[in-house]
Amino acid sequence: EILARLMSGSRALEDVVRQRGRSCLKFERVLGEGQFGTVNRAIVTGAPALHQHVAVKQLKDNAEAKHKQDFLSEAELLKPLKHDNVIRAIALFPQTAGAPACLVLEYLEYGDLRNLLRKCLALTDRGRDRFNQSRKSDFPGPLNPLGEAPLSAICALNFPHDVMPWVRLTEPEFRFILSQVAEGMAYLSSVHRLVHRDLATRNCLVGRGLNIKIADFGLSRELVDDKDYYRVQSKGKLPIRTMAIESIFYRTWTTESDIWSMGVLAWEVFTYGDTPYKAVPLDQLVTFLETGKRLARPPDCPMEIFEVLQGTWNATPSSRPSFEKIAEVCKRNLNVRD
Ligand code: ADE
Repeated sequence: EILARLMSGSRALEDVVRQRGRSCLKFERVLGEGQFGTVNRAIVTGAPALHQHVAVKQLKDNAEAKHKQDFLSEAELLKPLKHDNVIRAIALFPQTAGAPACLVLEYLEYGDLRNLLRKCLALTDRGRDRFNQSRKSDFPGPLNPLGEAPLSAICALNFPHDVMPWVRLTEPEFRFILSQVAEGMAYLSSVHRLVHRDLATRNCLVGRGLNIKIADFGLSRELVDDKDYYRVQSKGKLPIRTMAIESIFYRTWTTESDIWSMGVLAWEVFTYGDTPYKAVPLDQLVTFLETGKRLARPPDCPMEIFEVLQGTWNATPSSRPSFEKIAEVCKRNLNVRD
C-alpha cells in the first residue's frame, strides 16, 4: 500500500511537471556546478507534499555544441530508464528563445556518495584523528543516536532533509551500498545495453534509507546492435583513475570496462572516498597497471569481496565477473553484524 502511494506520488509529480512546464519550478539553490552546466534544487509548486523537490540540470548559456549534444543525449538515454538504483528523469524542457534547455531529475537528499563517504570517515577512529589534526570545525559532532543499529533500522528511518544520516559504516552498510550499485549497473547493461563510462562514487547519489542511485550519464552511450564497444577519438577530459586498462590504452568502453570501474568504485567505498592510486601520478598509471599492479585491499573490505574486486581488474575483460555476480556476492551476509 505504501509502495502504491509512493508510486502514485512520483507519477503525480511527473504529471504536474510535464503539464505545467517550467513555470511550476521554483529554484532554491545550487547543488552542483560542472564545466558546462549547473544543477539546482527546485520546488515543484502544486505537487503533492511528499515529492516536492527536484534537481534541475541546465546548460550554461555559452555551452559549446559538443556539450549541448552530450546534455541532450544524457536526457534521451535517461528517459526509458526505470530502476530503484538509477536516477529517474522527470522531464526535459527544450531550449527556447528566452530559456536554456533543462533536464528535471528526481532529487536525492544526501547528495553524492563520495561526499557522504568522506563525512562518514569522520566517525571512524582513523578519521577522527585526521579531523582533529586538520579541520576541527568540520567535525560532524556527536554520533547520531542510531550508533550501531541494525541496517534495517537505519534504512527504515527518514532523516530530515539535508541532515546527514551519520551512520557508522560497517560491513552490512558497505554491502548494501555496493549491491545497489551492482544491481543498477546490471539493469543498465543487461536490459538497456548501456555503457556508463564514468562509474565512480562521485557520480552516485544517496537518498533516504541509504538508497543509492547511479547518476551522471553525460558520458554514457548506447551500444549499437553488433558493436559491443564504444570508441572515442577525441581527447576530452577522462576519468583515468577509474578507467579500465584497455580504455586508457585504446579509448574503448564496454560493459566489461564498466565492471572494472565498479571494482574501483567498491575500493572507494571501503576507503571512505579515498583517491584510487593516490601515490601514483596520472602519467605513470598505465605503467603501474601494465606491470600487473593493482589497488590494495582496504582494511574494511572482506576477503570474499576483495577476491571479486581483483576479478574486476583482470587484464582480460571477458574474465571479469558480471554485475549480477558482484551483486550476488555483495548481498551475502547483508544483515549479519559481527
Ligand atoms: N546533485 C546533482 N544531482 C543531484 C540530484 N539529483 N539530487 C541531489 N543532488 C544532486
